[in-house]
Amino acid sequence: MGEITNVMEYQAIAKQKLPKMAYDYYASGAEDEWTLNENREAFSRILFRPRILIDVSKIDMTTSVLGFKISMPIMIAPTAMQKMAHPDGEYATARAASAAGTIMTLSSWATSSVEEVASTGPGIRFFQLYVYKDRKVVEQLVRRAEKAGFKAIALTVDTPRLGRREADIKNRFVLPPHLTLKNFEGLDLGKMDQANDSGLASYVAGQVDRTLSWKDVKWLQSITSLPILVKGVITAEDARLAVHSGAAGIIVSNHGARQLDYVPATISALEEVVTAAQGRIPVYLDGGVRRGTDVFKALALGAAGIFVGRPVVFALAAEGEAGVRNVLRMLREEFELTMALSGCTTLADINRSHILTEGDKLRPTPRL
Ligand code: GLV
Repeated sequence: MGEITNVMEYQAIAKQKLPKMAYDYYASGAEDEWTLNENREAFSRILFRPRILIDVSKIDMTTSVLGFKISMPIMIAPTAMQKMAHPDGEYATARAASAAGTIMTLSSWATSSVEEVASTGPGIRFFQLYVYKDRKVVEQLVRRAEKAGFKAIALTVDTPRLGRREADIKNRFVLPPHLTLKNFEGLDLGKMDQANDSGLASYVAGQVDRTLSWKDVKWLQSITSLPILVKGVITAEDARLAVHSGAAGIIVSNHGARQLDYVPATISALEEVVTAAQGRIPVYLDGGVRRGTDVFKALALGAAGIFVGRPVVFALAAEGEAGVRNVLRMLREEFELTMALSGCTTLADINRSHILTEGDKLRPTPRL
């Protein structure tokens, strides 16, 4: 393997290494995969307005998320079933995140339990939650996450049903028999039955609560004191409802383009959500982040931080923990360079005037 110089290079290696069913599960988006491409394309249509002759000899990328200090505004998104990518799975991701001084979000559908991930050592970790029809299951799981030291719940709100991922349907996707959804093992919900379409889609149809609504955000608050991030908001209307629901923050996400196809790229939806949130709660973003320049663009549009998903899984498949460490290192270094070349020395320096979006190009040149 030649030297890896950007996070995207891990995808081709993962494709070679992984069984087709596993690779396709991680790589695919919903239906025509329009949004999957657009999550990347939309970043490429945003240009920079860098400032020059600013002393950038010292750059501070540190920030705090829900009161937790981290080394950079780059965090790890929840991605399911990481042991399908590498035998160390979520253990490797947790260790790499801790070593980089950043946050890992563990998926409900992890192949390692909350307790197992906690056993890797100290680290700031969030828990991604799917709400099951059986609320006792949810209560137990949230309590276990709290006990295992997880610091926030990222409540996924865009999955009353699973999106139509055609590769998974063709492959009759199921979790390999040597693995389980570890958080649900003791509850007899850890296995996924073979179905005549995607086994995961059937699992979701059987277990996940389609009635989930804003009142359940209140319910969740009644069973936990952990802060709740509402993950999957892409409109101003829902951003306002999230603020009113008492959420601690919003994650602008289209679930890695795996749910509803033809929704905008998250970077395109970000600004309306930020405007609607009116600074009352922080807004984060996931989806399509592959470069330090993408991180900068998201921050310039008002994100308080970003999460990366697929690059972590592909790097895990290629090189295990070392791969995930390398992804976090490359993104960090690219982001630092972008700050320097844009004339920003702290995250607070990054603002809307540092970028030019397509919408801006239609407006007269701003008098700043
Ligand atoms: C899991 O959250 C998935 O999108 O497959």
